[in-house]
Amino acid sequence: MAILVQKEGDSRTSVPVIRVENLWKSFGGQTVLKGLDFSVSQGETFVVIGGSGQGKSVLLKHIIRLLKADDGDVYIQGTPIMPLSQPDLYEVRRKMGMVFQESALFDSMSILDNVAFALRMHTKLPEQMIREQSREKLLKVGLRNVEGKFPSEISGGMKKRVGIARAIALSPEILLYDEPTTGLDPVLASAIDELILKMQSELSVTSIVITHDMKSAMRIADRILFLFRGEIRFMGTPEELMRAEDPVLTQFVRGETQGPIGTL
Ligand SMILES: Nc1ncnc2c1ncn2[C@@H]1O[C@H](COP(=O)(O)OP(=O)(O)OP(=O)(O)O)[C@@H](O)[C@H]1O
Ligand SMILES: [Mg+2]
Repeated sequence: MAILVQKEGDSRTSVPVIRVENLWKSFGGQTVLKGLDFSVSQGETFVVIGGSGQGKSVLLKHIIRLLKADDGDVYIQGTPIMPLSQPDLYEVRRKMGMVFQESALFDSMSILDNVAFALRMHTKLPEQMIREQSREKLLKVGLRNVEGKFPSEISGGMKKRVGIARAIALSPEILLYDEPTTGLDPVLASAIDELILKMQSELSVTSIVITHDMKSAMRIADRILFLFRGEIRFMGTPEELMRAEDPVLTQFVRGETQGPIGTL
């Protein structure tokens, strides 16, 4: 469950960890995000669902400012990130880990070096400790005896897990996952769900998870956002989603071919 940290006697509502405000983005003539507004609070697992090409990855890329908004902003712990200079942006990014949809591993580096990359960049830890911590993160995602291999030598599902190990290497406060269970078998997918829940309960990590996997969404989400044609069509708890009567949402959730999607 989401935990809102509020000091005693503090009458203000605490600042959300992530706040997306009036976010607009177009590519050429195509408007992908149409003024999105939402906040994610401390310790919350916030799941984004929506059809292919609806702007989920584009949204996540704005949250770490790999993409710049046409209008609006993203606030990380109260700091607007669109105007930040590169050094200030790096400071904010240090708090964040991102699991990319396509794993985005460095092909010329071993698996261990991929996971160790951020530790080498951002810490002054001795080499032995870096290697130990990287191995520990790989174990956390269920990978052993792969440290010396290269990305081209492991399966897609394994790459996905290396991507997660790399994202959690610096023990970030915020984790962004772009389809972390796509391409994994059902047992591994459940193991990743458990890992996401564990990161939340043990470290109070705030997460945004994009997924097509409704079972996973219902299992891990405190709240779910349904993105449709660049707008928020639904936002609420899994229980509220189950009760919702919007035919577009129910068709999507049930994966039915008959319904308003595609004909609207
Ligand atoms: N860098 C870019 N330049 C131009 N168009 C882009 C760019 N990135 C995304 N788009 C377009 O924006 C739209 C949304 O893309 P996005 O990758 O966010 O979809 P998605 O919801 O993540 O889909 P999927 O579930 O298939 O991953 C698509 O039409 C895509 O072609
Ligand atoms: Mg995507």
